[in-house]
Amino acid sequence: MDHFLYRDGVLHAEDVPVPDIARVVSTPVYIYSAATLRRHFQVFDEALAGMDHLICYAMKANSNVAVVKLMGDMGAGVDVVSGGEYLRAKAAGIPGERIVFSGVGKTRDEMRLALEGGIRQFNLESEPEMRALSEVATAMGVTAPVTVRVNPDVDAKTHEKIATGKSENKFGIPIARAREVYAEIRDLPGLEAVGIDVHIGSQLTDLAPFRAAYEKVAELTGVLREDGHTITRLDLGGGLGIPYEHGNQAPPLPMEYGQVIRETVGDLGCEIEIEPGRLIAGNSGIMVSSVIYLKQGEGRNFLILDAAMNDLVRPSMYDAHHDIVPVTEAEPGVERAPFDIVGPVCESGDTFAKMRNLPPMTDGDLVAFRSAGAYGAVMASEYNSRPLIPEVLVDGDHFAVIRARPTYEEMIARDMVPEWL
Ligand code: LLP
Repeated sequence: MDHFLYRDGVLHAEDVPVPDIARVVSTPVYIYSAATLRRHFQVFDEALAGMDHLICYAMKANSNVAVVKLMGDMGAGVDVVSGGEYLRAKAAGIPGERIVFSGVGKTRDEMRLALEGGIRQFNLESEPEMRALSEVATAMGVTAPVTVRVNPDVDAKTHEKIATGKSENKFGIPIARAREVYAEIRDLPGLEAVGIDVHIGSQLTDLAPFRAAYEKVAELTGVLREDGHTITRLDLGGGLGIPYEHGNQAPPLPMEYGQVIRETVGDLGCEIEIEPGRLIAGNSGIMVSSVIYLKQGEGRNFLILDAAMNDLVRPSMYDAHHDIVPVTEAEPGVERAPFDIVGPVCESGDTFAKMRNLPPMTDGDLVAFRSAGAYGAVMASEYNSRPLIPEVLVDGDHFAVIRARPTYEEMIARDMVPEWL
């Protein structure tokens, strides 16, 4: 459920008409709904009720400091994957004890940054990384709390670019090797194992792979405890999928996902952490764009927008579907026609959708891309020297720009021409 609904034929973000925002901020623009973000956090919180838990919002999905602060104010922790995300989380007021650090390539500098600023745990992904962290923590005279991300060799049945739990993926340590690795952690200075971590992929629309992975984690918890390790925390990753095609897809609900957690690892006496990103941010955001031209091609009509693949890369990168809707609803009975919806970037891949049925559109009309709150703005680039587009947060009847559109001058001023040129 989200808070982007039509009222009197005009799409609203909560109580704010979308055209009002477009008028002030111009297009393209990302618009997020605070109420939706809060609701999605609460849905997970309720799904885990009765279990000691921390929801560590995977801020890679949407790392705007205002969004992360909103999550933190609800009591969320965060999952970070870089020094930049760590510092953004801190800027959003998230205390170190609620930050978990994931990622296959944490550098020593990033490790130091997190150890200095405070960290709940590092999720280790390899033995070289484990040894590096031991060295860094020892040199600093501190102990780093760690989990090992185990790769359970489970097929998440999602897009190959976002599946992470198969043995051929670069992530984690094969679960069969976990005992050796935990034994080495015990022997290494500066490290203290506090739990186990797993994350098998993103946009999962079936609970079976989660169940399979969590059963393996439960079994491993028993084995490691027999080996004498104190396992008090299980980080179960993120990955629960969202509906991208309204009315045409119904991924499992967080409540059902919570039930799988309860059934597989609920009675181990461990604190449960989850790292949802997409489900919190995805349907909490839209991208709004204007029609620049309507172009009649041979056998097909193109709707050329002012947004492009550099602003929302998911369709070109993953063939992802985003619902694209007119901001002003057509009168009932108006005939729809198929359009290819494209951006101005000089690549055929700059195509958002093919043969989408829309009512008649004309220059200047606004369209909204739904489900664009996760992996939208964060994956944007300035390709074709198109400045990053702004982000707006709506809360009830008011809105604020939470990242401004840079001017061309600001964008160009970042480049430096050496004096000898
Ligand atoms: N935890 C870890 C360790 C992750 O790698 C990820 C996502 C998450 C949590 C959050 O997963 P989520 O709940 O959002 O599914 N750019 C792609 C998605 C990449 C996901 C990467 N890892 C897309 O646009 O579909």
